[in-house]
Amino acid sequence: MKALILSGGKGTRLRPLTYTGAKQLVPVANKPILWYGIEGIVAAGITDIGIIISPETGEEVKSLTGNGDRFGAKITYILQDTPAGLAHAVKIAQPFLGDSPFIMYLGDNLIQNPLLPFLEQFKQQQLDSLILLRPVENPTAFGVAVVGDRGQVLKLVEKPKDPPSNLALVGVYFFDRTIHEAIANIQPSPRGELEITDAIQQLINTDKKVESCILDGWWLDTGKKDDLLSANQIILDERSTCKIEGNIDGDSKIIGRVKIGSGSQLVNCSVRGPVMIGDNCHLENCFIGPYTSIADRVTLIDAEIEHSVILSEATIENVNHRIVDTLIGRRAKLTTAPQRPKALRFMLGDDSQVELA
Ligand code: G1P
Repeated sequence: MKALILSGGKGTRLRPLTYTGAKQLVPVANKPILWYGIEGIVAAGITDIGIIISPETGEEVKSLTGNGDRFGAKITYILQDTPAGLAHAVKIAQPFLGDSPFIMYLGDNLIQNPLLPFLEQFKQQQLDSLILLRPVENPTAFGVAVVGDRGQVLKLVEKPKDPPSNLALVGVYFFDRTIHEAIANIQPSPRGELEITDAIQQLINTDKKVESCILDGWWLDTGKKDDLLSANQIILDERSTCKIEGNIDGDSKIIGRVKIGSGSQLVNCSVRGPVMIGDNCHLENCFIGPYTSIADRVTLIDAEIEHSVILSEATIENVNHRIVDTLIGRRAKLTTAPQRPKALRFMLGDDSQVELA
């Protein structure tokens, strides 16, 4: 059994952050989203992993993630020149996959359920494909499935205008080698991509065994800001622990589960967990509220922040309002004049969003 993780694409929904970085590397609780997927796959006993990368962000994914040693896996990188669809990614990965069955995992997805029970079902029932589904409120944004009473998949449609059900395809799929022939027999969709949804429909059309499981745990598709903040909240809630490596002065107060990385300094700060603060940060006269993740080398002075994700090397100084529900990119600077500001001055990149609430 092998695994194929998709970590290409342009990440348009997380712009402007993803102009300069891969969406799969945006951190959730200070760890790249992609790494949760890798860890989940390794926990299911699969260590031969291919990762699809794009020309734009591939080098960054490679240099941060490495050859797999840190996960106890062997990682092979496969370059997809153009974002021509999920089924196209499988097609170009064929030399890596060979005739092996495999799990395909979209690198910006996070699921709570362990993968092993699904893998066992896939193997025991000798399926051609097992797909994971979850009821959603906005099925038009996903691939949608119609299933029979035993979980057998009857029909799939990609981003339907008129959804036949509310069951969305979660970005985790199990395939046997029969998927390659199915992909060879589909045409690009109206959006010009070879859709994996169409390839699975092709399996169904040729009487292959395609079954589904409905997830009972959470599923987060971290493609958008609010989804990313929810993912951060859930992971901090479920997995954060107390670990203080940095220095905290006598005027600071730490309440609840708070992690502070090495080399970080807190001066006269109040931190209410769950909160994660990376390495080599400087925080002075700050309140950091629950569900906030602060990456490495961040400077925060005279600031109040909660339910937010701050990426590395950002600076926030002298902001007289509480910052909530916010995502701040790498090296971004947010400051105001020491006196009450009479005017607001910005330099915002394309697609930036500011809401003066
Ligand atoms: C892709 C799939 C879609 C699936 C979704 C899950 O959509 O095409 O069927 O429901 O991932 O995240 P995309 O994110 O490429 O729009």
